[in-house]
Amino acid sequence: MFEVKPTAGASQEETYRELAVQLTGLLTGETDGLANAANTAALLFQGLANVNWAGFYFLRGDELVLGPFQGKVACVRLALGRGVCGTAAQRRATIVVPDVKKFPGHVACDHASRSEVVVPLTKAGRLIGVLDVDSPLLARFDSTDAAGLEKIAEIFLQHTDLRQFVD
Ligand code: SME
Repeated sequence: MFEVKPTAGASQEETYRELAVQLTGLLTGETDGLANAANTAALLFQGLANVNWAGFYFLRGDELVLGPFQGKVACVRLALGRGVCGTAAQRRATIVVPDVKKFPGHVACDHASRSEVVVPLTKAGRLIGVLDVDSPLLARFDSTDAAGLEKIAEIFLQHTDLRQFVD
């Protein structure tokens, strides 16, 4: 069986390097979007310490709609430009939020979430959705997380047939 454990004492860089290797192994030979998004969310949820939500929103028309995730039930639809996810999607830029209560328009799905990082998913300039990871700790995420999750998003995009996500 495939086992994912946060390695005790590993640096953040090592953790993301290991997650990238594991994700490549998981997705190689599989292009189904639902399956790949589900396994990516599970890998991040199990492999990252102090995370209470990890998952996807995909662009449907002009809003983001909830995709596969791990964590508590979440808001289904997010307008582009609204909250952390909608803002990252609109800007097509990764956003690290040290304190979600200070982010204007933050959408509180799980009230335990205190910090958040959102990576936009784009392919050939086209917005596909976002990858969102939340933590119950303040300032849990930094630029290493942003870079590590951008790499994870890239591996997901490379291995997945994205036609199923495009209207
Ligand atoms: N907090 C997010 C909404 C998604 S949930 O965290 C899963 C936001 O403001 O975009």
